[in-house]
Amino acid sequence: MNNTSEIGFVSPVKMDGENSETTEPSPAPETANSSDDSQKEKEDEDDHVMSEIHLGCPPKFSGSFVSYFTFSLPPDVEYIEGKYEYRVLDDSKLNQEVSLDDDGDLVLPRRNKHPKDKFDVAIQHNITSSIPKVGLQVWRAELVLSDFVLHKMYTSSKFDGIVAVELGAGTGLVGMLLARVAKTVFLTDHGVEILKNCANNVHLNSTLLPSKTTVYVRELDWKASWPPKQDNCASCESYAWNQSQFEELKRASLLVAADVIYSDDLTDALFHTLERLMPHGLEKVLYLALEKRYNFSIDDLDVVANGYSRFRSYVRDETDDAENNELPNGSLSAFVGTRIDLTKIPQYAFNYNRGLDLELWKIKYVREEEKHIT
Ligand SMILES: C[S@@+](CC[C@H](N)C(=O)[O-])C[C@H]1O[C@@H](n2cnc3c(N)ncnc32)[C@H](O)[C@@H]1O
Repeated sequence: MNNTSEIGFVSPVKMDGENSETTEPSPAPETANSSDDSQKEKEDEDDHVMSEIHLGCPPKFSGSFVSYFTFSLPPDVEYIEGKYEYRVLDDSKLNQEVSLDDDGDLVLPRRNKHPKDKFDVAIQHNITSSIPKVGLQVWRAELVLSDFVLHKMYTSSKFDGIVAVELGAGTGLVGMLLARVAKTVFLTDHGVEILKNCANNVHLNSTLLPSKTTVYVRELDWKASWPPKQDNCASCESYAWNQSQFEELKRASLLVAADVIYSDDLTDALFHTLERLMPHGLEKVLYLALEKRYNFSIDDLDVVANGYSRFRSYVRDETDDAENNELPNGSLSAFVGTRIDLTKIPQYAFNYNRGLDLELWKIKYVREEEKHIT
């Protein structure tokens, strides 16, 4: 098993003109095949990594910073009679719509905009972090998932009034967007520092979140035992679950997770948790956004995406034919997924670089008796 953490080789980019600093990409930590877990943990703590998303922070800034992430309707989404409509504008329509006024200036078609079409989310995040604290940063996959969630929210009522869970939520951006229409949102992660930062973000955005939505920040550590630790002390300030919240979790129909595929042992732990969570109560669908990271492997003498391969070893692609359904270990996967075409999802978040390395998957858990259905 290759346990290399794959999150370390991202390079910072200029996002909005304020942060023009560029530095060398941080190298992927070389911890493959180490049998000494504590040595690996120590190395992970020593290695610092940097996401590409660090809006507006001054050059050489380190530590925690509050950025404002602006979301706005792209030009191809219109608000028409109480509904948002997404239109694919073909060139011929655009040509027809463009005309000149008396002064010879271009008259551009006016688009209907709703007052809530543009809003800012305040996010407290770090610019760099050690690998165990990557949840203090915002990663590109979180923005892709934000775009997807907003698109669903604008063009359907699917997420209205639901119970939703964000896994490995980090700063909690996607979960907070969902909280604008959902009934209950659980923002989950592990470790007090990350959970505290996430709770602080919920606090920073309290005016954005409708009072009828309940947002919980809760510890859901994929490596801990199931069910997660419960604590029924009402006045306790902790991120532990109580019985009624755990019951509410059963009623979740939507799970979301971004950039949680970067280390094989974490991928194993995540799918182990999903095996427990997804059959629990209401049928659940998971939307998982990931960054496909490539590394040079000495074993393969080639550039490979090992973390991605591990992920794919758990998820059967629904579009594959029946013969390809069998996994290398001879079993049929309980997780069935389809890759969502990102070109169909408009970019609501500011102009970040989507790139071809970002993928979004819709994943369902198929119960035993359904496994043979293709
Ligand atoms: C790369 S960050 C992604 C954070 C956020 N979703 C984003 O994309 O901006 C990976 C997330 O997985 C979380 N994570 C790592 N190990 C975990 C575990 N054992 N249980 C729960 N969450 C974990 C991290 O704390 C972190 O928030």
